[in-house]
Amino acid sequence: MAKTIQAIRGMNDCSPTESPLWQWVESKVRNVLQSYGYSEVRMPIVESTPLFARAIGEVTDVVSKEMYTFWDNDEQLTLRPEGTAGCVRAAIEHGWIYNNEQRLWYMGPMFRHERPQKGRYRQFHQAGVEIFGIANPEIDAELILLTARLWKELGIEQHVSLQLNSIGSLEARKNYRSALVEFLQQHIDLLSDEEKERLEKNPLRILDSKNQALQDVLNGAPKLLDYLDEESRVHFAQLCTLLDQMGIAYEVNPKLVRGLDYYNKTVFEWVTNALGAQGTVCGGGRYDGLVEQLGGHATTGVGFAMGLERLVLLVQEVNHQIALPRAVDIYMVYSGEGTTLPAFQLAEKLRENLPHLRIMTHCSGGNFKKQFKRADKVGANFALVIGETEAATQQVVVKDLLAGTQQVLSLDNVVDYLHKAF
Ligand code: HAM
Repeated sequence: MAKTIQAIRGMNDCSPTESPLWQWVESKVRNVLQSYGYSEVRMPIVESTPLFARAIGEVTDVVSKEMYTFWDNDEQLTLRPEGTAGCVRAAIEHGWIYNNEQRLWYMGPMFRHERPQKGRYRQFHQAGVEIFGIANPEIDAELILLTARLWKELGIEQHVSLQLNSIGSLEARKNYRSALVEFLQQHIDLLSDEEKERLEKNPLRILDSKNQALQDVLNGAPKLLDYLDEESRVHFAQLCTLLDQMGIAYEVNPKLVRGLDYYNKTVFEWVTNALGAQGTVCGGGRYDGLVEQLGGHATTGVGFAMGLERLVLLVQEVNHQIALPRAVDIYMVYSGEGTTLPAFQLAEKLRENLPHLRIMTHCSGGNFKKQFKRADKVGANFALVIGETEAATQQVVVKDLLAGTQQVLSLDNVVDYLHKAF
């Protein structure tokens, strides 16, 4: 036998038994996004490499270590590691945001060369939102309300909590950076080699270090919230007030800085304890300078993305109430001379008249016993049976597979009967 070829590590197939749950989660996401009036956009999976380097930042883990990059003749291309950069590129390129507000969403695969583990993959899927041209904190609050609504729809609201912070303006972060570096230099012996390197390039990322001894010391570090510029401070206070009034619980986490460089002011993450180490199911924030930085007219931005693998895992873990639709409602059974055509014609007539039903036609020969076994296996409610007698008399046997009863109907009555039955 020829040697088999396996999928790439960290890149998963979605099996026929897993896809109903994925479809259920995706349809909840779509419905909630549509209920807020947001519009879907679709961007390419490949973009030119400098787009990500400029948008996400050269010194971030994503750009410096995790991108799938290759040469296409003399152009360097990258499989998108996230959706914001491509969405901003598209919005500038097509003038979507020229003197215009936009509330956009997308869903699709992203690629990061990370070490795979539960909830962390090399190809993963995000649903993301990007809002352009709305500067005030009301829209930040709307995004949080939207995600909270989705958690309810998915039945996971008891298992996620909101972490919130403001990282202020670029200027405020510069001032804070100096204070933080000065503080960390007093504890330099606690820093790993990687963290020492970060101290030079991106010291704020040291705040979410996994090193417990360092975390304890960091509790006494200067807080970014104390260095905020006035505008960011007011923005954050207004956001918190609105969330309080709307009954959304959150924890202000002064160490939350996010791993991508484009953020300013509000940043947030929804986290869970139910998934082990990869507990962030959704992350986002403001990026008011990014459009201009990528060559567009100055336009504010805010958005988030959630990891669909993590949401599917969490739903599996905590929501046992979901009734996923069965793949097949009716199984069309037929055997004998002259039965194929009436069976096909009946199946098409039913699909025409009862488009919400899933009707599977047997197609693969064999006796009735084999066909009924198949009908059970695919989980059908009803089998419609056409043998030579039924074909000759324009009739069909309707077998209720759950109740174990059956009756003979004329072909003219079967649509009405099934309409009432489902
Ligand atoms: P991010 O925090 O890098 O933000 O990713 C958002 C979410 O994607 C994470 O919270 C996580 O659920 C999921 N995720 C990230 N990496 C992986 C992975 N390797 N495997 C599985 N899931 C993963 C962004 O991507 C920003 N573009 C979000 C945003 C949009 N900010 C503003 N607008």
